[in-house]
Amino acid sequence: MKTNTIIETDYMVLVNKKNKLPNNWENIIELVDTKDAWNKVVKVEREAFINYCKLKESLKKENIYIEIDSAYRSVAEQENIWNSFESEYGTDYVKKYVAIPRYSEHHTGLAIDICIKKDGDLIFENSEMLKEEEIFLKIHKRLSRYGFILRYPKDKEYITGYGYEPWHFRYIKNIKIAKEIMNNNLTLEEYLINKI
Ligand code: DAL
Ligand code: ZN
Repeated sequence: MKTNTIIETDYMVLVNKKNKLPNNWENIIELVDTKDAWNKVVKVEREAFINYCKLKESLKKENIYIEIDSAYRSVAEQENIWNSFESEYGTDYVKKYVAIPRYSEHHTGLAIDICIKKDGDLIFENSEMLKEEEIFLKIHKRLSRYGFILRYPKDKEYITGYGYEPWHFRYIKNIKIAKEIMNNNLTLEEYLINKI
């Protein structure tokens, strides 16, 4: 019988509206502390963090400055986000942009939401970030070489269940697979289904 329990970090893990966080995940992954854009401590899976730092450094060469908005989230933190987004923006919006607790990729530690520093200002509101298409395209071009993919691409809501999130990056480790996904504008769901 297939169980949903892991014994080592599965960098290709699929967590989406139909697949919740595997059992035992939080006992297996290694999280490290870092600081978000507001200097608050946040946690990221160790290897994902190392590669995020490389991505961030490489973007500086293009005068693009990124910071972490959100990374690892406990179930309780996801509940808070769901509740605050629902009261601020309504149920339709929250369903399009926020996962139900236990079904968020942020629980894996492998997902990072970034925000952008531009002309001394921090751009972090979803609606403001969606206006920064040019910067995001440059960032997306660099993701795969550090083992990241764009998890919620444009026009793939019918597959991922979520609207376009240019800020949400997912570490999958394998650079060759990341390139295949990014070069073909695939979702993780599409890539994994083709491999079965
Ligand atoms: N924004 C993504 C879908 C999450 O809440 O996990
Ligand atoms: Zn996210």
